[in-house]
Amino acid sequence: MPGLRAPSDYSQEPSRHPSLAINSKEPFNAEPQRKDLVSSYITPVEFFYKRNHGPIPAVDDLDKYSVSVTGLRGSPIELFMKDIWKLPKYNVTATLQCAGNRRTAMSKTRQVKGVGWDVAAIGNAVWGGAKLADVLALVGIPNCSRVTPSGQKHVEFVSIDKCKEENGGPYTASIPLIQATNPESDVLLAYEMNGETLNRDHGFPLRVIVPGVIGARSVKWLDSINIIVEECQGFFMQRDYKMFPPSVDWNNISWPTRRPQMDFPVQSAICSLEDTNLVKPGKITIKGYAASGGGRGIERVDVSIDGGKTWIEASKSQKSGVPYISDHDSSDKWAWVLFEAEANIPQSTEIVAKAVDVAGNVQPENVDAIWNLRGILNTSWHRVQVRIGHSNL
Ligand code: MTE
Repeated sequence: MPGLRAPSDYSQEPSRHPSLAINSKEPFNAEPQRKDLVSSYITPVEFFYKRNHGPIPAVDDLDKYSVSVTGLRGSPIELFMKDIWKLPKYNVTATLQCAGNRRTAMSKTRQVKGVGWDVAAIGNAVWGGAKLADVLALVGIPNCSRVTPSGQKHVEFVSIDKCKEENGGPYTASIPLIQATNPESDVLLAYEMNGETLNRDHGFPLRVIVPGVIGARSVKWLDSINIIVEECQGFFMQRDYKMFPPSVDWNNISWPTRRPQMDFPVQSAICSLEDTNLVKPGKITIKGYAASGGGRGIERVDVSIDGGKTWIEASKSQKSGVPYISDHDSSDKWAWVLFEAEANIPQSTEIVAKAVDVAGNVQPENVDAIWNLRGILNTSWHRVQVRIGHSNL
């Protein structure tokens, strides 16, 4: 690919914020501190989690960079950045969450395989770019197409990074054609993050953003877009990021029996407290995030200060000065809410949070019920322990 290049080692990695917790150095996988994550509705780029499967690609010459669109009637069409910039620009506030968020806690029940994440493999950004629906219309695929005249039903995104799971090949994913061509799905080819040019870690010069769907489908460093008949057959669609029942282990797994995970389920986590905390007796502020997939807003966040016996409702917010209403136009439908509750903590206890989305979906009480060998989608009630004491004890 002229313009964009994929290094085969880690000698050209970008610099990152020193406060990130590094879960794996090569490839670079890191998340912010809990408190930093909920200090603002929009996650600053340096505190946005970074999830990679290979060395970070680099751009040599942006003018030469292009995305090829294949699977059309004629020969492939090359789209350069100037073609993408010419299309109407949209800013979409969307939460990206790795399916492996909260995996470390799932491993405590029974060992799972994968990068260990605390609760911060999630972030909320304003993504700026062209709608994929407009890009596809430009190359001749009308809006809201379910199938092309040649029977294609999926849109595949191919990167250029060298991933060991693909034996050095690129990262790939696909979404249904109807989602790609429906302008209301807000799928973007993004070139900006929080009003700045996308940086290398997050996919410069161009990445896909699929709102409401696990982060794995938002392919970074886009090289080609293929209009295809069957969904993408790549490793990350067919042999990863699938949810299996608790009965499946590495001896009896059959990958084709499950669908690639797309929407993420309702999730919340407390971020003003660590797993174990020493606090003074009295008032405590419980802050965190809640999000659901598929554009479903958050209807309620319940907080318990007695391990889940009784509950209080937390307040929810997105933008300052705009009251959050879960299914209202004034709310960012693809974005998380931050929640906050205050409570008196007279004695050592367990604090719990659980969220409910507009469809009435609730987080499951225990991790055991949703345990799966790849450790994805740990959406169980989030629990933290507080012990009353004095810091000099
Ligand atoms: N795209 C490419 N090309 N390579 C990758 O490793 N990781 C995916 C997705 N897109 C990945 C990718 C995963 S698993 C996630 S969760 C998100 O990117 C993370 O995006 P971020 O690093 O910008 O937070």
